[in-house]
Amino acid sequence: MKIIDVKDYQEMSKKAAEYIIEKVRHSKNLNLGLATGGTPVGTYTNLIEDHKQNHTSYQGVKTFNLDEYVGLSGDNHNSYRFYMNDQLFNHIDIEKSNTHIPRGDAKDMQKECEDYENLLAEHGGIDLQILGIGSNGHIGFNEPGTSFDSNTHIVDLAPSTREANARYFDSLEEVPTRAVTMGIATIMKSKEILLLISGENKKEALSNLLHGEVDERFPASVLRNHPCVTIIADEAAIADEKVRS
Ligand code: F6R
Repeated sequence: MKIIDVKDYQEMSKKAAEYIIEKVRHSKNLNLGLATGGTPVGTYTNLIEDHKQNHTSYQGVKTFNLDEYVGLSGDNHNSYRFYMNDQLFNHIDIEKSNTHIPRGDAKDMQKECEDYENLLAEHGGIDLQILGIGSNGHIGFNEPGTSFDSNTHIVDLAPSTREANARYFDSLEEVPTRAVTMGIATIMKSKEILLLISGENKKEALSNLLHGEVDERFPASVLRNHPCVTIIADEAAIADEKVRS
């Protein structure tokens, strides 16, 4: 794993955007895996700025998001479809039909999982997957204990994840209890992974990732087995690592 350490959230967002822009410009048909949450917001803002100023085009890009809440339709402002449209897709020249997010309101959620997995395979898989990390080590919504062999599936969200995400809802009760997520095996099929880590509350997760065992109890640890992972982490998240070295 390659680690790029940066000063703060702003610098992480700028570096991550530069990394993505480089790929978008140099590959004709890029399959880009995207994440939601607080971490990539600044990255998306930088992509939009660049699109406006330098006209980087996303017409050849297809996107595949990691996850979605079960029970929320795309027009619900807490859904990840709404988030992606609002934070990125509405502001760049990507075809909406080329943006893919599992549906949280599908009638048959089991079939939705299988369809999403097939969709990824039909498109030849993800070239570059952007990831955030939960403080409990989750990637996508793969909570501790998820099998490293898992494909796209439905999960019960950990109480800590619901609490962390309650900031976007009016109350904790409104946070869905289930989500659909790419599995660990799905994520590991990506040719390349860019993991973004910012803030003191992610310090322990970064430390576990770098020094802990590769173990299903800490889902992100699987990334140590991936041949091409780059981590961009800011000083607040990486502080303990500096003390160590
Ligand atoms: C989001 C996702 C999650 C987040 C993680 C960190 O699509 O898959 O794994 O990356 O929960 O969230 P933030 O960035 O809000 O700290």
